[in-house]
Order: sequence, then structure tokens, then C-alpha cells
Amino acid sequence: MRGGYRIVKPNEEKSPDLKKKKVSDTRTEQVYIVRSQHINGYGRLFGGMLMQWMDELAGIVARRHAGMTVTTASVDTLNFEAPAYQDDMVVLIGRITHVGTSSMEVRIDAYVEDNEGMRRPINRAYFVLVAIAEDGKPVPVPGLIVENESERYEWMSGEKRYKLRKTRRKEGY
Ligand SMILES: CC(C)(COP(=O)(O)OP(=O)(O)OC[C@H]1O[C@@H](n2cnc3c(N)ncnc32)[C@H](O)[C@@H]1OP(=O)(O)O)[C@@H](O)C(=O)NCCC(=O)NCCS
Repeated sequence: MRGGYRIVKPNEEKSPDLKKKKVSDTRTEQVYIVRSQHINGYGRLFGGMLMQWMDELAGIVARRHAGMTVTTASVDTLNFEAPAYQDDMVVLIGRITHVGTSSMEVRIDAYVEDNEGMRRPINRAYFVLVAIAEDGKPVPVPGLIVENESERYEWMSGEKRYKLRKTRRKEGY
């Protein structure tokens, strides 16, 4: 026990030589202003633009965790919860939730922040990125140290999604 929370050290047996990292080591925040070129025909932020921003941030978080080149393998539960409009300040927060052997799951939350600093959620998604060597082949990533109940909950949910993705991939549905 440390600080009242149980510290779990997953992935230890899979990549014992790699220095494990904390979720907080790679948590990254990115902010954009929605400009006219980001707007679709309905006057809202174009969904593809937001997805690009989210994918880029997921890549940065995963690269910081892996310390090497990464590539996006899949995206799931990407939900557009609310629109954003021109001049809105869009805040993206990315953090690692789970790691496998060579794959990392990164959760991205997107918000619109008003002038009082209040954040309204507009999107959330889980990206899976894989660390790759120069030949494009997957390579092991460091384990993840989870330090509190919320990170532990995310890890356990991520473990379920990791297994589900494996099954879906194997069975092709
Ligand atoms: C991602 C990629 C490197 C995986 O290569 P692969 O030979 O299929 O590798 P493996 O089957 O050994 O899987 C490696 C890991 O990736 C995970 N993975 C591979 N495809 C996945 C998918 N579609 N969804 C979720 N996880 C996936 C595996 O579960 C495995 O995880 P683990 O090592 O943590 O257990 C390869 O499919 C690729 O290069 N894809 C194109 C990626 C790309 O170009 N992205 C940019 C978007 S255009």
C-alpha cells in the first residue's frame, strides 16, 4: 500500500527490462481554437477534424509511454456527445489506461471550455496504439503503474476491452 491505494504493476512479466511508467508521466493536454476552416456545412466543428486532433494526441501520449515510434491500430467507443462551434476553445486530455505487450490503450476526452474555465464534454474515445520497430513489427512497451482507484478502475475496464478486441479480431466480428 502507498498513499492508501494498492499499487499494481501489470505487464511486469511481459516486459521486465523496460522501466514502468505512471499514468501521470504521460498525461497530455492540448488546446485548440475552432477556426473557420474547421467548420462543416452545418456551422459545427467537422467531426473528422476533431478525430484527427484526438488521434494525434493519442499518438503523443503513447509515444511518450513507449519511448519509440507508435502507430494507431484501432479506435473504439468514439462518441460525439455535443457539438463545438467557431471560436470555441476545445481542450483535449489524453492518458494511458491500459497496456498489453506491444499495445497501449489511450483514452481521449474532449471538452469545450468557456471563459469561466467550465468544461463541457463533447467527445470521448479509446485509441489502441502499437509500438513498432524500424521494420514495422510490434515491440514490447513498458508496464503501467496505476496509483489510485480511478486509474485502477480504468485499467480493469481496459483489460476487458483488450480481451474483447482480441476475441473480435480472432473471430472476425
Ligand atoms: C498495428 C500493427 C503494427 C499490428 O501488427 P500485427 O502484425 O497485426 O501485430 P500483432 O498481431 O502481433 O499485434 C500486436 C499488438 O497489436 C494489437 N492489435 C493489432 N491489431 C489490432 C486492432 N485492430 N485492434 C486492437 N489491437 C490490435 C494486438 O492485440 C497486439 O497487442 P499486444 O501485443 O499488446 O497483445 C499493424 O496491423 C499495422 O501496421 N497496421 C497499420 C497501422 C497504421 O498504418 N495506422 C495508421 C492509420 S492509417
